Amino acid sequence: MSQKKSICITGGASGMGLETGLFFSRKGWLVGLFDKDLSLLKEAETLFDPETVMTAEVDVTSPENLKHAMKNFSVFSGGRLDVMFNNAGIAPGGWFDEMDLLQMKQIIEVNVIGVFNSILAALPLLKATENSLCLSTSSSCATFGHARRAAYTASKFAVKGLTESLSLEFERFGVRTADILPGCIDTPMLRRETAQGAGKPFEEAMLENLPKEGAYRLMPASAIAEAAWSAYQDSDPIHFYVPPEVAYADKLKGSDISSAREEIKSFLFR
Ligand SMILES: NC(=O)c1ccc[n+]([C@@H]2O[C@H](COP(=O)([O-])OP(=O)(O)OC[C@H]3O[C@@H](n4cnc5c(N)ncnc54)[C@H](O)[C@@H]3O)[C@@H](O)[C@H]2O)c1
Repeated sequence: MSQKKSICITGGASGMGLETGLFFSRKGWLVGLFDKDLSLLKEAETLFDPETVMTAEVDVTSPENLKHAMKNFSVFSGGRLDVMFNNAGIAPGGWFDEMDLLQMKQIIEVNVIGVFNSILAALPLLKATENSLCLSTSSSCATFGHARRAAYTASKFAVKGLTESLSLEFERFGVRTADILPGCIDTPMLRRETAQGAGKPFEEAMLENLPKEGAYRLMPASAIAEAAWSAYQDSDPIHFYVPPEVAYADKLKGSDISSAREEIKSFLFR
């Protein structure tokens, strides 16, 4: 088995995934970037020392795509996988009753089934690697659901629940599990999304209007890379909130659901 540690990242060609790949690369790790966007992958590749990165055009909704790419990754990494980062996701929004059902199914297909597929494809390598971590991207939406993000929220609660279940199940393999719950992270996704229903592009305005402090202040993508690094170093927490204030809604709702609702309503996701 190779001496160098390795991380494989879905949605690795952009935003949080790419930033995490670069961070781990600077720590001397081998990095696999899986993404469905070939042109972004090509651009991303140029940011790494070519010997330390492999890229694969992968749609996480396809188990075959993932199995094939993981086989190539195994050759590249010398048969080890220290961190599988199931991060690919999409986030179309809108009022639940106005959204297209097909689009909502697609959110579940990518954000939930895509994570199932990624984990199943990675599991043999994770099992073969001591102290490995299966890490997924959930969302602050999985603390208290956000309005105009109902299907997305449902998908991210699913990821959070999956993490908890697998933290029990994968104990028998010595594979740790964790997830990251980001608030507002400055990535192409955050800037690209449009407020459906309102019918106007809103991310630029939203970026300006974000609170300057607290759970929904704008964070750089590097904060996610640091959380992924902490998740690998620290085997205790399984939910990593970025920024840490995102955890507040989770704590509050256990004791005072009305206050938790009001707290969320006071933010931008109304
Ligand atoms: N940016 C935020 O504020 C924020 C907050 C909470 C959670 N998230 C989650 O973080 C993750 C990363 O988002 P980001 O902000 O870096 O977005 P991003 O759009 O910059 O990156 C996501 C990447 O996933 C890829 N992707 C999408 N569908 C795919 C598929 N079917 N197969 C393979 N790759 C696919 C895209 O091509 C893209 O490169 C997502 O799961 C997102 O839901 C983001």
